Amino acid sequence: FRTLDNLEARGKRVLLRADLNVPMQNGVISDTTRIERVAPTIKELADKGARVIVLSHFDRPKGKVVSSMSLRPIAERLGEVLGTSVKFASSCEGSEVEAEVAALKDGDILVLENTRFNPGEEKNDPEFAKALAKLGDVYVDDAFSAAHRAHASTEGVARLLPSFAGRLMQAELSALSAALENPERPVGAIIGGAKISTKLDLIGNVIEKVDVLFITGAMANTFLAADGVNVGKSLQEADMHDTARKITQIAKDKGCEIVLPVDAVVAREFKAGAASDVCPIDKIPADTMVLDAGPKTVELINQHLAKLKTLVWNGPLGAFEIEPFDRATVAVAQEAARLTKDGKLKTIAGGGDTVSALRHAGVVHQMTYVSTAGGAFLEWLEGKLLPGIEVLKATSHELGLG
Ligand code: 3PG
Repeated sequence: FRTLDNLEARGKRVLLRADLNVPMQNGVISDTTRIERVAPTIKELADKGARVIVLSHFDRPKGKVVSSMSLRPIAERLGEVLGTSVKFASSCEGSEVEAEVAALKDGDILVLENTRFNPGEEKNDPEFAKALAKLGDVYVDDAFSAAHRAHASTEGVARLLPSFAGRLMQAELSALSAALENPERPVGAIIGGAKISTKLDLIGNVIEKVDVLFITGAMANTFLAADGVNVGKSLQEADMHDTARKITQIAKDKGCEIVLPVDAVVAREFKAGAASDVCPIDKIPADTMVLDAGPKTVELINQHLAKLKTLVWNGPLGAFEIEPFDRATVAVAQEAARLTKDGKLKTIAGGGDTVSALRHAGVVHQMTYVSTAGGAFLEWLEGKLLPGIEVLKATSHELGLG
């Protein structure tokens, strides 16, 4: 579809959908990654003489004005990151903001207030989409991480204005396609998480596409228990044993090797510094729970990584937030980073937890690509069509741009 290369931006009012939904604690932004990653698109447009009008949601105010969910402090931070002044409008529709937009000069940047303060946003209300479209001549979508939402600012408005993919959107899509659609093989995936019940579609899609699937985290306990392993007091889903066995069979039929932990770090309580032991997977003491993968599992995964060309990573190997249960995640992350640095492996990671885990391991900047998306990354791994992407494709096709 069309990108900024196809946009004659000078003098145009460019409605740019960013995802400025950053983590904030007590009014302080705790991670500015999303701001930094969208900044180059904003800068490029402003440098080209566009009048950039930035749209975003922030948090979940459910159609009401919630002052703690204002985008104002985030707009200020965007200005700092860009090193330029950024204006702020205290609404995203109506005559006041229309006047502010009309007063913009070429190269100006104006951030509008949280789109989710309006009940029409999440309903994808055509009237609200029209009110947004009135503010721009063209629409640029740079919010891959919100593309799984069919909202007025991600979907509705794209139908009303000539639409383009921003630079971050382009980068996300090409990284994801290099991960699962056209990967260099062999390709492997690390899929972790607490429950298989929430990741069934994801696992189903991934086993169709990868050569090796590492199942990690508490989710692995369910697979092990389904196979007759006594997992003691570990978190697992007893009602998913049949499903786990079916998944294993499907993977076999498709030629996808499933790798499960061969040893574990177990403890009697889940707290920082709790006394822990390492044991083989078939010797888990009945009164303990698995909180991390053991060193033999790390070795096994790392041996596989050495044979892979591409790795997709979603989900930690253990309860990495609490030491010492971060060790397996850290060890595998560092090995993936080493292989990536040596040009032997392409590692594409995504999902909120995974990014925190990679940051914790100190290797978040050493991956081939780290997605800014949480939910959208998961839906993409599930093989779902994302409405924010589909609309960009559809509107390009209408213009014969493919
Ligand atoms: C995200 O953080 O994943 C996106 O900004 C979407 O947010 P949402 O889950 O509140 O729609």
